Amino acid sequence: MSADGHAPATPAYLTGFGNEHSSEAVPGALPEGRNSPQRAPLGLYAEQLSGTAFTEPRAHNRRSWLYRIRPSAAHPAFVRVENGTLHGGPFTDAAPDPNRMRWDPLPDPAPGTDFLAGLWTLGGNGDPARREGMAVHLYAADTSMERVFSDADGELLIVPQEGTLRLRTEFGVLVAGPGEIALIPRGVRFRAELAGAPARGYVCENFGRPFQLPDLGPIGANGLANPRDFRAPVAAYEEVEEPVEVVTKYCGNLWQATYGHSPLDVVAWHGNHVPYVYDLRRFNVIGSISYDHPDPSIFTVLTSPSDTRGLAGVDFVAFAPRWLVGEDTFRPPYFHRNVMSEYMGLIDGAYDAKRGGAGGFVPGGGSLHPMMSAHGPDRDTFEKASAAELRPQKVDDGLAFMFETRWPILPTAQAAGAAHRQQGYDGVWQGLERHWGTAG
Ligand SMILES: [Fe+2]
Repeated sequence: MSADGHAPATPAYLTGFGNEHSSEAVPGALPEGRNSPQRAPLGLYAEQLSGTAFTEPRAHNRRSWLYRIRPSAAHPAFVRVENGTLHGGPFTDAAPDPNRMRWDPLPDPAPGTDFLAGLWTLGGNGDPARREGMAVHLYAADTSMERVFSDADGELLIVPQEGTLRLRTEFGVLVAGPGEIALIPRGVRFRAELAGAPARGYVCENFGRPFQLPDLGPIGANGLANPRDFRAPVAAYEEVEEPVEVVTKYCGNLWQATYGHSPLDVVAWHGNHVPYVYDLRRFNVIGSISYDHPDPSIFTVLTSPSDTRGLAGVDFVAFAPRWLVGEDTFRPPYFHRNVMSEYMGLIDGAYDAKRGGAGGFVPGGGSLHPMMSAHGPDRDTFEKASAAELRPQKVDDGLAFMFETRWPILPTAQAAGAAHRQQGYDGVWQGLERHWGTAG
C-alpha cells in the first residue's frame, strides 16, 4: 500500500480492449448478481457512469458501475475559473487559415505547472456542446497534480513525449511514458502525477464517439493494434478526508469545486467505460510487400467513427517501426492533398519524410496540414528516395503519430501567433527542381 492510498506503486492491469472488466480493491466490495442492491457491500454507494446514451447499440454501449465511499453527487457548486492556455471550442478566435504550419516544442513550463495548467491548445474543430469534433492540445508540466480533473466534453488521448505520467484515476492507476498512450474516458476523474520533470506530450480531446479499434476487413481477425494489448487498471482507491480541489471542463470552460474528500474513492467497479494504456511498440504494422506506399490509414490505432461509414471524426495513427520492401516504389509518404486535416507529432527520433534538427520536425514539435493543403516529402527526402537502392530497409529511427480529422483544425490565436511557431515552413518544399524535359 502506497502513501497516497490503497494503490500499488507498480500497477497491475486487466487486459483487452472494450472488455466487460471488473475489479475490487477489497474482497467483497463488488456486488454479485446485480448492479444496485438494496445495500451495496461494505457500506459503499453504487453509481453508474455512462459514456454513451443508455440506448445505444450494445456493440457501442459504454458504461461502468462504481462502488465508492461517497457518491459523486456529494459535492458543492462549481464556480468558473480561468481557462489559462486551455481552449475548449468552438474555435473561433483566429481566422481559419489554409496554410501549412509547424511548431517547435512548447517552451519550458513555469515552475509549479501541473498537467492541467500545462495544457496548451493548438486548435480544434466542432463543438463540445454538440459532442462533435476534437481539439489538439500539448502539455508541458513540471509538477504533479494535487487537484483532480475530469473532462465532460470528451475523452482525452494522452501521448507522452517526455517523462512518465502516473495517472491516478477513479478506476485505478495507469502508468504511461513515451511510446505509450493513455486514454481517460469522458467524465472520468483523474490526477496526473509526474515521475520526473519536465513532462511533455500531446493530447487529442475527442468530443465525438469514443475511440474504438478500426475494422480490419480483408486484413483478417488480427493485426494493427491487437485488443489484448490494451490495459485497464485494477481498482485502487484513496481515503482523503480533507479539502480537495476538483476541476471539470464543461462546454469548453473550466469549473472548480472544493470537496471535503477525495473523489478517487472507488473501491470496486465493473464495466467497459474505463481508462486504458497501450504501448505503440506493440502495433502490428501492415504494409506493402509488392509496390506503392499504402494510404496512411493502414497505421490507424484508434478511430472515432461518425454516422457516415468509413468517415472518422478523428483517427489516431502511429508510424511504428517497420520494414520497407516495395519494388519500383517511392517509399516515403507520397505527395498528396487530403480532404481530411492532419496534425502530426513526433515522440522520438525522426520521421521518414521530414528532416529533423533545429528548425525541422523535432520531437515535441508538430505540424498542421489543413484540409486540401498540399504536402509530402521535403526536398532532401524526395531526392534521396528517388535515387535510393531499393533494398529492404528498416525504418526504426523514430516514432511519429497523427491526429487526422474530418473537419479543418482551426488554430487558436495563441498557436497562430506563438513564438515557437516556425516561420517559413513552406520552404520545406522549395527547391524541388523541375525535371520535366530532362529526365529519361
Ligand atoms: Fe498527409
